[in-house]
Amino acid sequence: MNRRRFLGIGASVLGTGALAAVAVPSAAYLFSEGRPGRLLSSDLDLPAAFQVPLPVPPVLQPVRTDGTNDYYEITQQVAKLEILPGVRTEAWTYGGTYPGPTVVTRSGRAAVIKHRNQLPVPSVVHLHGGHTPADSDGYPIDLLLPVGSTAPAAGSMDGMPGMRHTAGHDLVGERTHTYPGKQRAATLWYHDHRMGFTGPGVWRGLSGFHLVHDDEEGALPLPRGERDLPLMLADRAFAADGSFRYPSTDASLAVPGVTDDYMDGVLGDVILVNGAPWPRLDVDRAHYRLRLLNGSNARLYRLELDPQPSGGDALVQIGSDGGLLAAPVTHDAIEIAPAERFDVVIDFSRYQPGTRVRLLNRFGSGRTAEVMRFDVSSRAVNDDAKVPDKLAAVEQLDASAAVATRDFKFRRSRSDGWTINGDPYQPGRSLATPALGSIERWRFSSDVHHPVHVHLDHFQVIGRNGKDPGPWDAGWKDTVDLRPAEAVEVLVRFTDYAGTYMMHCHNLEHEDMAMMADFTVG
Ligand code: C2O
Ligand code: CU
Repeated sequence: MNRRRFLGIGASVLGTGALAAVAVPSAAYLFSEGRPGRLLSSDLDLPAAFQVPLPVPPVLQPVRTDGTNDYYEITQQVAKLEILPGVRTEAWTYGGTYPGPTVVTRSGRAAVIKHRNQLPVPSVVHLHGGHTPADSDGYPIDLLLPVGSTAPAAGSMDGMPGMRHTAGHDLVGERTHTYPGKQRAATLWYHDHRMGFTGPGVWRGLSGFHLVHDDEEGALPLPRGERDLPLMLADRAFAADGSFRYPSTDASLAVPGVTDDYMDGVLGDVILVNGAPWPRLDVDRAHYRLRLLNGSNARLYRLELDPQPSGGDALVQIGSDGGLLAAPVTHDAIEIAPAERFDVVIDFSRYQPGTRVRLLNRFGSGRTAEVMRFDVSSRAVNDDAKVPDKLAAVEQLDASAAVATRDFKFRRSRSDGWTINGDPYQPGRSLATPALGSIERWRFSSDVHHPVHVHLDHFQVIGRNGKDPGPWDAGWKDTVDLRPAEAVEVLVRFTDYAGTYMMHCHNLEHEDMAMMADFTVG
């Protein structure tokens, strides 16, 4: 199947009828060097940095709870937001805000979340890092069609080679996802995952935090309350009228993909934290827990504080994608790829009162080299929080227990765009069929940067290019960045739920242009 046919399926899933011409990568593009993305500039004046206070997304309240479950409702809707001061931006949102409301759940309790789609487009919601039964996971062709739309005729996908998509996976108006909560405390996030359109969907605002707490974490003396903050980093670009700019092949989004120039990934020139451009936060001289999420489509960040506190090691990492580490790991800088999370504690008492501490992005240049600023207050405060030497029990998976070793090659192909093991994504064709309960060794290799994400279970990185894991690989991960021409080995154990899941590149432009694969746990 070539890229044209892949994209054709994406469009026909939407029932858009006749296919418009799909941009096939030009020869110039295909022979160019791989880049981690291309900058898309805004067409309006950008605000000065560090003017807007850091917003914190609202916490979603359950509509009801019972002995085992908490029930939530989220309406996906268009909203006019003030992202840049004085500018109105039409966004696609969860619940009317960007980021969407933060879902806060307890390990061992199920979160039952009903999504209602009032957007002008179909959607699919995925809980990233969620340990989720397949039918609630957000398979990219299990569409939630907008309220009031006519569902495609039953069996309309029959006859597509390899399609498992049958009548019944599409729903109109509402879909309920059940997240059983059989997982440890962690910083998760939810976002759109629609086949072929995840990039524009997330870019226009479809993402939010989902935090899981548990007793093990609760017993630790970590910062809490207003000193425990989720931070969603995301770059965007804006048109002169305030709308989001995005280089879709087809502005009406009937056809997936971005223009040739942006196939490597779309980078914006505005850095948002929790939806605000280059915000500032007044901090006490105390410990803060910052749950860093890279919610960007393609941008990689190298985060560093400026100035560094004397003695360095400002960023004390306590957790990664899959929750707390066994013990803290200190860093001067953190490299974070799209979809990764780093849970860090910063002790601002290491700074003199009045210090303005910038969070920098050493991979950026010009405006994208700055992220936000912390203004250290002079008031005296109580701070009982600290980072204990031992954080959590973390089981080390045993490489010798792996029952299979599988290779997944993430490459650009001359004819098919972005591929895994040479093929563009084809729904229903599984590249792996691990047995439920088994441990496997998966080896990912790259041509250019690819942040690789596996659904269902977290994994442990055991090596890079045959050497030890890198400084940012500790703990349970669900996304790992492959650097150019690198092979990363991970161990993953498939637990609890049989069914078909995804693995894919989380550069959303690569993902939309077919760098995905199914695996089926049985
Ligand atoms: Cu964050 Cu398959 O996605
Ligand atoms: Cu990629």
